[in-house]
Amino acid sequence: MMRLRTFLQQHCDDQMLAELIEQLSVSCKDIAYRISLGELAGVTGSAEQENVQGECQKKLDVISNDLIKDCLAAIPSVRGLASEEEPDAVPANPEGRFLVLFDPLDGSSNIDVNVTVGTIFSILECPADADPAAESSYLQSGSKQVAAGYVLYGPSTIMMLSTGNGVFSLTLDTRIGEFVLQRENVQIPADTKEFAINMSVQRFWQEPVQEYVADLLKGEEGPLGKRYNMRWVASMVAEIHRILTRGGIFMYPFDNRDPSKPGKLRLMYEANPMSFLVNQAGGQSTTGREPIMDIAPEGIHQRVPVIMGSANEVETVIQYHQR
Ligand code: AHG
Ligand code: MN
Ligand code: MN
Repeated sequence: MMRLRTFLQQHCDDQMLAELIEQLSVSCKDIAYRISLGELAGVTGSAEQENVQGECQKKLDVISNDLIKDCLAAIPSVRGLASEEEPDAVPANPEGRFLVLFDPLDGSSNIDVNVTVGTIFSILECPADADPAAESSYLQSGSKQVAAGYVLYGPSTIMMLSTGNGVFSLTLDTRIGEFVLQRENVQIPADTKEFAINMSVQRFWQEPVQEYVADLLKGEEGPLGKRYNMRWVASMVAEIHRILTRGGIFMYPFDNRDPSKPGKLRLMYEANPMSFLVNQAGGQSTTGREPIMDIAPEGIHQRVPVIMGSANEVETVIQYHQR
């Protein structure tokens, strides 16, 4: 049994980064505990306020954000942070080396129905003389991430982590209060017959995704020649966790429901960290037209179309975009 601290000491050559991840995991354990208590801890329901993106915040969005923010602000190596629930970047320690971007609680519409949610994080190196209060300091492409991961609060609490040398999974052993190493070098099968997309938005998609989904629904008689199965949890973390476990393709593509939103998911703290994990596990991630981690970000809350998962299946969707 290898605990997170020992794992990081052996696996991560940057001990400052290792320390940051370990500290961050402490706030995730706290969140996991509160989620497990549910209504007993008063964490369900709405916070009756909106975030900068006009979304109604759940109590647990606010609680998780505060826990992680306070935790990160106390870590000397953290120069600044950005969160889904914070309108602006938050400066932390002037001597710090890292910028941390996070979605404190992904899938928060699922809290009240007791379905899996998670915390997503992305870690960047802060440019030497950059201002951690300025949005521009954070606008680095996903390929610059030094680490990324998520903590999934499901039947068990699981951390999926990459510091650029493969993907590792650690399970929270609640008997000892520690994350312990579970799976090394997680790999996504290159082929899949499982897709995840919110079909209720079908009429708003662009042609390439319309055609791809229409073809896959034709099953073994169709041009893709296989019978697919569908899953939609409505928590990206749960979706990506399933894909890292048994393969699949996840899509939240461009749609024209609302012209001001080119997709639903946010580049900096959803699409990029998940792309980092998926790529490290041998999968692919794209907007359909370019690799997600190549995008030059324009804002910390920027939205992007997302297609990621099993490499060959994602490649098929890219080909539909190139027709
Ligand atoms: P968040 O709870 O952080 O706002 O993110 C929710 C996201 C993502 O987790 C999920 O894949 C998607 O929204 C679900 O969207 P639908 O409500 O369209 O199913
Ligand atoms: Mn989210
Ligand atoms: Mn969220």
